[in-house]
Parts: sequence; C-alpha cells; structure tokens
Amino acid sequence: MNIIVVGTGYVGLVAGACLAKIGHQVTCVDIDKKKIARLKQGQIPIYEPGLSDVVKEEVAAGKLLFSTSLKDVLAKAKAIFIAVGTPMRRDGKADLQQVETVAKEIGKNIKDYKVIVNKSTVPVGTGQEVTEIIAQDYQGDFDVVSNPEFLREGCAVKDFLEPDRIVIGANSNRARDLMLEIYEPLDFKKITVSVESAEMIKYASNAFLATKISFINEIANICDIVGADVEDVARGMGLDNRIGPKFLKAGIGYGGSCFPKDVNALNQIAGTSGYDFKLLKAVIEVNIKQRLLVIDKLEELLDKIKDEPICILGLAFKANTDDVRESAAVDIIRTLTGLGASISTYDPEAAEQAKNIMNGGVKFFDDPYEAIKGAKALVIATEWPEFEKLDYKKIFGLLEDPKVLIDGRNLLDPDEMRKLGFKYVGVGRGKL
Ligand code: UGA
Repeated sequence: MNIIVVGTGYVGLVAGACLAKIGHQVTCVDIDKKKIARLKQGQIPIYEPGLSDVVKEEVAAGKLLFSTSLKDVLAKAKAIFIAVGTPMRRDGKADLQQVETVAKEIGKNIKDYKVIVNKSTVPVGTGQEVTEIIAQDYQGDFDVVSNPEFLREGCAVKDFLEPDRIVIGANSNRARDLMLEIYEPLDFKKITVSVESAEMIKYASNAFLATKISFINEIANICDIVGADVEDVARGMGLDNRIGPKFLKAGIGYGGSCFPKDVNALNQIAGTSGYDFKLLKAVIEVNIKQRLLVIDKLEELLDKIKDEPICILGLAFKANTDDVRESAAVDIIRTLTGLGASISTYDPEAAEQAKNIMNGGVKFFDDPYEAIKGAKALVIATEWPEFEKLDYKKIFGLLEDPKVLIDGRNLLDPDEMRKLGFKYVGVGRGKL
C-alpha cells in the first residue's frame, strides 16, 4: 500500500522504515530540509540500534522515499500517518500545533478517500479535532483513526516489528479494514476499538508504567529507612504473575520524551474533564522528589556542594539512547551546578546532545576514568551496561576522599563496593 508518514522523529522514522520493511511503499515527509537531505543519503539523525540498517535496505529497495512536501506526494497515498511532535506546554498540556498544521495541509490538498492515522500521542478528542480541521477545507469522504505507538527508544525497531499488541482506533469499518490490511504482515494481537478508546489506551499505558516506577521508588525509600533491599523486594514481588517483574527497577525516577509528558498530559485531561486524578498527581510528585534525593545524599556525605568536584556517569534518560530529553541526569547536573558544584561527566552516546542543552560549567570527557579522576563523589545516573563493567578498584584510587559512590540505578553490588572502601549509596539498598 502507498503510505505517507509525516514527521521523521523517533516514532515517524521507525514507523516509516518498518512499514516499508513489511512491504509497503512509504514516503516520509518532514519540513526540515537538512534532515531530509541527510536521510536521502542514508544518514540517521538519531541513535537507535538497527534503524540505520532498515532505512538503508528499504531506501536501496526503492520502498522508502523522503520528501519535504506533503502536497507533492499526497495524491498517491491511501493512508497518511501523522507522527509529528506533541511537546509538553508550560501548563502540562500537549501542544498540538504541529498536528493541527498537518491536518490543515491534508484538508487543503486531499482529493479522494484517505485514512489519516494519528500516531502521535494526542489527548482524547484529537481524532475529532483533526476530522473537523480537514472538513473545513474538504467535503469529501475520509476517516481519521488512532493507532498509538508503544515503541521504546533503544529497541524501537523490534518493538514495531514484534509488538505486544497493535491498537487500532477507528469509528468506521472502512478505516478499520484498511488499518488491518496495513498491519496484516505483522502476526501479533490486534485490538480494534473506538478512536477515543485508542487515544486513552496510550495515555493509560504510559501512566500505569510510570505509576509502577514511582511505586517501586517509594518502596525503595522505605527500604532505606527500615534496612531492606529494594532489589530483593522487587524480585520477590515480580515473581507474582499478576504483578510481573518489569518496570520495577528503582532509581532516580523516570525521564525521556514520553512518560513525563504523557503523565502530565493525562493529569491535565483529567483536570479539564473535572476529574481529580489523585494517584497520578502523586506519581508526578514522587518522580520529582526522587531526583532530588541524589542531591540530599550528596549534601549529607560531602558536607557541602559548593566548589566540590562531582562526577556524573551517564547523561541519557536511560541506556541505549542518546536522548537527553527530561533526563534525570541532566536535571541533577543542573541542580548541582546551580549549587556551585564542579561537574565532570561521561556518557558513551549522549554527550553531544547534552552539550546542546547545557549552559556550560560542565566538563565533558570521552573516557569515564578521566571524568572520574579527582572527583570526591561519583554518581551513576544512567544504567549503561558498560558502567557495571568498569574497574571499581581503579576508580577507588582515582577518587578523592571521602570517595562517595551514589548508584542511582542500582547497577552495582553494595557489599562489593563497600568492601572496596567506597561510601556507597544505592536507591533503597539499606542503610549506609
Ligand atoms: C516509553 C514506553 O515504555 C513505550 O511503550 C512508549 O511507546 C514510549 O514511552 C512512548 O510513549 O513513546 P521510553 O520513553 O523509550 O518508552 O522509555 P522506557 O524504557 O519506558 O523508560 C522510561 C523511563 O523510565 C526511563 O527514564 C527509565 O530509566 C525509567 N525506568 C524504566 C525506571 O526508572 N525503572 C524501570 O523499571 C523502567
């Protein structure tokens, strides 16, 4: 099928490349001319394992094309996926400007029946809004469907090609059947619901996962007080099939371009619907507090923060990505530099992205040991597997007294680290 994907961010590019891989003729559209020029040459603007290979293969096979003009390519397509950004506004609501602009352009240029697919995460009711925008300029037949994406950064290609479920929200049989045809090559569970339910499934799923994280972080904080180990507690809980082991990793809180934005947006959706979503408010509050715990622990163990050399390992919001949006690591660094600390840092992939959003005062290194040398405290802020494998005996020698090690992701064995002599603090791993 001839398909257009508008927006070449994480979701758009992965969806476009993977839709081509499962047999469709795809054109990815973006208004960013430089980005499209680079993509045409096979250069991927993001770090996403496996994506580059799929893009190159599909471009070579002629199944994946790129364009800067939606108008020029619209006629041939049967389905148009909207996968543009919906960033968080200051008030926590999703900013729908980009979605609305694309809808307007579709309305002005559409000439026959097409299915417009909302893949961006949008509040309940946006399907209707997009329909109304298109109908202002086009009086013919068309359908707007919701097809939320559940891919995780770092394993996005696999998540697209081997999903737990495919959610199709359509209010007409014609649109539903076309969506089922698109996903026919993917033999995984498909659920067809109304547009509104599909929109809600996306928010409810992300909010539930964020709730699991804030819940385990609260348990971790109690573990610290009572002397229990949250890793053991999570293992014991996760063995109950009804709970499951995933998303029970305590740490410095969730970040990234999705959870903070979507949890806030759902809270806003509830608020504007006149519903007080108390649990979600607590999830947000716990997440903010969790980042600050690192600062509290440093203040306690270093006596003061001002002028103290502190090394932060990890800048990405999680491992296997170069994405630093809403990263707990970046937030912690900002707070520490604000308090006058001298920060050195290392990340295997995310340093360049972090440099773009940080105001200086932070030293970036290409080698973790160089970054650590001379620091009084080391904070592990991202769960990169390579941080587990570092030579901690050597690191002990490189650190200055009091040799504090804050393991914000519970990557290391507390007993081993304490034996080496570190003042080790994990998250919910019992008292120091
Ligand atoms: C998340 C969802 O997992 C995807 O299903 C969804 O499609 C995506 O948002 C989206 O809405 O687009 P992602 O943001 O890539 O994906 O990252 P996750 O792997 O879910 O991690 C989110 C944050 O939670 C990270 O900061 C991670 O470090 C943290 N986390 C995750 C924990 O602190 N503990 C855990 O047990 C799991």
